[in-house]
Amino acid sequence: MKSIRKAVFPAAGMGTRFLPATKANPKEMLPIVDKPLIQYAAEEAVAAGIDTLIFIIGRNKRAIADHFDKAYELEAELEAQHKDKLLKITRDILPPHVNCIYIRQSDALGLGHAVLCAEPAVGNEPFAVILADDLVKNDGPNCMEQMVGIYNEYHGSVIGTQTIPREDSSKYGMVAGPDLAPRISQVDNIIEKPLPAEAPSDQAVVGRYILTPRIFDKLRTTGRGAGGEIQLTDGIAALLKEEKVYAYSFEGRRYDCGSKLGYLEATVEYALCHDELKADFCKYLKSLKVCD
Ligand code: G1P
Repeated sequence: MKSIRKAVFPAAGMGTRFLPATKANPKEMLPIVDKPLIQYAAEEAVAAGIDTLIFIIGRNKRAIADHFDKAYELEAELEAQHKDKLLKITRDILPPHVNCIYIRQSDALGLGHAVLCAEPAVGNEPFAVILADDLVKNDGPNCMEQMVGIYNEYHGSVIGTQTIPREDSSKYGMVAGPDLAPRISQVDNIIEKPLPAEAPSDQAVVGRYILTPRIFDKLRTTGRGAGGEIQLTDGIAALLKEEKVYAYSFEGRRYDCGSKLGYLEATVEYALCHDELKADFCKYLKSLKVCD
């Protein structure tokens, strides 16, 4: 069985919910405290044993490639000023064994199309997909580490899920199927953004996938679905007719950093865990009468 070595980061969306902040900057570069969302996603993949990061980028996304590249002038400046700690932070964005590949998705046709754009770089092996605006915090193994563990045990595609209030079903891909073990079920139904009355369960797809390469065959013939886009969910619906697909309700708290509220929640909670900031930030929050 092939191990999971590659991760795809779809990052060609327009980020309209964060305009004007995302007019010239990708939403994946929005920071949570001092680190951009895309770096949290990359670190999660690397900790899960992945060594090839495939970024699907659109226009205005050069900042992502720049972020993971060397910054010669900045490094020279920090070196000259003996700012060793900052130099280390700037240099150690990714460990040296990790490779980055950038693929331009010129037409923003949807998440399914973005994943299909990765095919030339992924080839014929299973791979991970991480949506950087779904930030997952867990004290134990990170979300992708958990998912790789499930893939290694079940040898099939794995979709990360969480329970949501049914009335929110029209924001998510929703899955259903028989339970196999605690937190694991076999998917027999998946549907993109159904109305609450049509949702097959309260299990939502949350920005983490491990997929077998057969998904590419399915995505090639997937027509436009919800919102007029080529949906990854529809590709997975076709895949599960031929292969077993598992849903894994991962451990950890997920922040929807594609929404302003989720982004602010993540910012507060990551700041409260940040070594340099937590004491002062906690003091500040306590001083706000609104937080009493
Ligand atoms: C995408 C997927 C959806 C999934 C969601 C998780 O939707 O299409 O199935 O539930 O991510 O964040 P988006 O939020 O990009 O509209």
